[in-house]
Amino acid sequence: MKKTLIKNGHIWSAVDDFFGDILVEGDKIVAMGKDLAKSYSADEVIDAEGHYIFPGGIDAHTHMELPFMGTKAADDFETGTLAGLHGGTTSIIDFAIQTQGNSLSDCVNTWHEKAGGKSVGDYAFHCAVTDYNEKTAKEIPGLIAGGITSFKTFMAYKGALMIDDRMMLGLMGTVKEHGGLVTVHAENGDIVDTMVDHYKSQGLLSPKYHALAHPPEAEGEAVSRVMDLAHYKDSPVYIVHTSCRDSLERIKKNFLRDQRVFVETCAQYLLLDDSVYDKPNFEGAKYVMSPPIRKKDDQAALWSSLQCGHVHTVATDHCPFNFHGQKDMGKDDFSKIPNGAAGIEHRMELIFSEGVKTGRITMNKFVEVMCSNPASIFGLDKKGTLGIGKDADIVIFDPNQKHTISSKSHHHNVDSSIFEGWELTGKVRTVLSRGKVVVRDGAADQVERGQGEFLKRKPFNYSL
Ligand code: URP
Ligand code: ZN
Ligand code: ZN
Repeated sequence: MKKTLIKNGHIWSAVDDFFGDILVEGDKIVAMGKDLAKSYSADEVIDAEGHYIFPGGIDAHTHMELPFMGTKAADDFETGTLAGLHGGTTSIIDFAIQTQGNSLSDCVNTWHEKAGGKSVGDYAFHCAVTDYNEKTAKEIPGLIAGGITSFKTFMAYKGALMIDDRMMLGLMGTVKEHGGLVTVHAENGDIVDTMVDHYKSQGLLSPKYHALAHPPEAEGEAVSRVMDLAHYKDSPVYIVHTSCRDSLERIKKNFLRDQRVFVETCAQYLLLDDSVYDKPNFEGAKYVMSPPIRKKDDQAALWSSLQCGHVHTVATDHCPFNFHGQKDMGKDDFSKIPNGAAGIEHRMELIFSEGVKTGRITMNKFVEVMCSNPASIFGLDKKGTLGIGKDADIVIFDPNQKHTISSKSHHHNVDSSIFEGWELTGKVRTVLSRGKVVVRDGAADQVERGQGEFLKRKPFNYSL
């Protein structure tokens, strides 16, 4: 088996750091320490002098090739995970979404077909349950045994994805009984639909009315409700793409009753504010996503919640649509603009530059929320930290290199970027995925279509 020695790096975990070397044999880390060259030989030596070394990132929220709102997300598993590798994200958890009326195994099989033989990064699935009934309930133990241990629910997108509270309660009970975790898109679908109808009836049809039709109250109400449902069922719950102060206030109050609530936010909610919807020439459509981009005050609340541990993970909700040919389906009606944007490639670099470099979070917190927490919450026991016996998913990172995000040079398969022109400090240089160098000095290196593996996840750890 090939041995690779990475030497002289500044190595980071979620709790500590040291200067030293990492020895990789095959797909695993086999030694860590100082001056490993004195005790071990290697086939390849990578000098990481002046660089940070941290675990491959895990993006716990992506939608590759998602069929949605009359079109489909522009990245497939190959292009999307390749973009991820360029940005130091070596594993994703994508959403296999049930079509109402079909079985859960149908949707999981469909997602295996999309990803298998194509994905270049490792991948796992959450199973999104859009139709909970006696039949689908019976499928859940088998899915958990097969490594799909988290179950997504939508409290919005009525008529397509949304489930009601009765289904949510049933699902929480079954999932807990068999060792899984329920995750939730928390927005009150009825508030949203009422507001959409209201603005449309007034002829208010530009992209900014998408944002106004998704008020923070709709998110906050759904967050409160799902926490109450989970408390009643004595079930942990993971809230995806949390975007606003309203939700965070309710989550923090909820901690008083000792309930286990895991909170995810996404890079765009930490970094962008709702002035993006005032851009001319329909450009606000690029930022149409649910929940929408919020106010600067919401950003402040998210950063401090991240700092103090109330927000556990930073994901992307990567769901790209081209500005030309997809977003413009809603040129005359914001409710027809496909919801979502690209993010996987720049998640690590954005949060490093805007979080660590600015002093908002520590480097250890960065590793915790980008790598270690997604691994432990979602049962990826070989991922998320650098240690002996772990998968050798390793990022070698220049903390001082400056670069600018542009849709002309990014690897997302989409014609625009919500971070166009952002100047960042800190760049991914070299990436190993299960021991193989896949990015070298910023460029893809001998990446083979289909090299990514399906990750069977462990049941949820109720001691977390
Ligand atoms: O706008 C979004 N977030 N699109 C993807 C689907 C979802 O709600 O996560
Ligand atoms: Zn969502
Ligand atoms: Zn999503």
